[in-house]
Amino acid sequence: MWPGGEKWKLRRKMLSRPFMTKALQRHNPCWHKQCERMLVETEERFQDSDKKDCILVDILRKCTFGMSSETLMGVDVTQEGEDGALFCESLGDFNKILFNRIFRPWLFVDWIWRLSSEYRKMRALGERMQKVTYKVIQKYREIQQDGGNGMENGEDVELRNTMIEIMIRNGVGEKAIFDEVTTMLGVANDTTPLSTEFTIFMLALHQEHQELCRQEIDRAYEDPTKFKNGILEFEALKELKYLERCILESLRIHPITIILKRLEAPLKVDEDLTIPKDVSVIVAPYVLHHLPQYYHNPEKFDPDRFLLENIRERHPYAYIPLSGGPRNCIGMKFALIEMKVMVATILRNFEVSTADRKEDIKLVVEGVIKPASSIKFNLVKRQTM
Ligand code: HEM
Repeated sequence: MWPGGEKWKLRRKMLSRPFMTKALQRHNPCWHKQCERMLVETEERFQDSDKKDCILVDILRKCTFGMSSETLMGVDVTQEGEDGALFCESLGDFNKILFNRIFRPWLFVDWIWRLSSEYRKMRALGERMQKVTYKVIQKYREIQQDGGNGMENGEDVELRNTMIEIMIRNGVGEKAIFDEVTTMLGVANDTTPLSTEFTIFMLALHQEHQELCRQEIDRAYEDPTKFKNGILEFEALKELKYLERCILESLRIHPITIILKRLEAPLKVDEDLTIPKDVSVIVAPYVLHHLPQYYHNPEKFDPDRFLLENIRERHPYAYIPLSGGPRNCIGMKFALIEMKVMVATILRNFEVSTADRKEDIKLVVEGVIKPASSIKFNLVKRQTM
């Protein structure tokens, strides 16, 4: 995604600021606003009793797009139309073509590729996504011209810096800003909604855990020190520990990424095997997370694996849904919070079930590991709230 070396180091350092907890928590109201919109759409989709077995992932995608564009770029584009949906839909099709190409070696020949219909489709999809990026940047500029978003007294100016502001301040050129925003929106919206869909699926399959999460969520919503002005406080979100463990366990069972890296130095695996520099290696979290030596009965959904005492007993790299070490996911904290807010909103408002069984869900690799067709849910509005 990002190249390695010095360029990566500088970019990583430059862009890590908006992902710090202190910077993220400023956006708690915006996440709730986006979740309110998600709720309206979800209610519309699931309100008729004959509308069972509906998909949810597209609604989660739109919500994630809203949260990430506002948190990272300072711009709420979703209120104006279907930009998020358009971006996400195009991204899905783009990745599908990209990965189909891997299995057709003749398309590696540049001139054949450029003559192919897939190439033309990919270009058109790329342009559609860039139009949305352009709109995000344009809107950001309009906000700046109007004097910015306003800053509360004494607030650390650094903490309210968006990705775009940081890049401008660091002298990053127009084209590079454009590419970076497209990449970041792309990554953010390809990963979090799918992981959230898998978590809701796990909770739909395991009703007892769903109920325990809901009790915890209800307690938080019903506590006036935690739920104020229609918003669950950031600190209260952090305290949803049972839900957090369910999310972590879901990311264990369904890690969606495959990590592909070219070795920057020889890698000694054991006494007999050293992989030379420049060889590309694949690390598959899915395989690792299902090894019985790390996870007893690996297919079992067991959130208690993420109790502190159990985490301490495991090798730290036995769990890498968001990779690990210096090249781990820069959006890790943000992704986990987004997932929490979305799942908490759904469980607070709906009883969730599914007619799909785990074994019905065929997985495909299209940039990420995802269900071949979207999971279907039944959501029934809760009466006693
Ligand atoms: C549940 C959601 C997410 C998952 C499972 C996930 C997973 C990962 C993984 C496994 C990597 C390492 C990839 C590799 O080394 O090949 C990674 C890197 C990265 N992720 Fe995420 N990610 C998620 C959400 C996000 C979000 C929300 C953002 C940004 C808003 C983001 C931005 C990035 C970036 C920029 C990198 C590259 C970091 C670097 O190379 O220094 N991710 N992610």
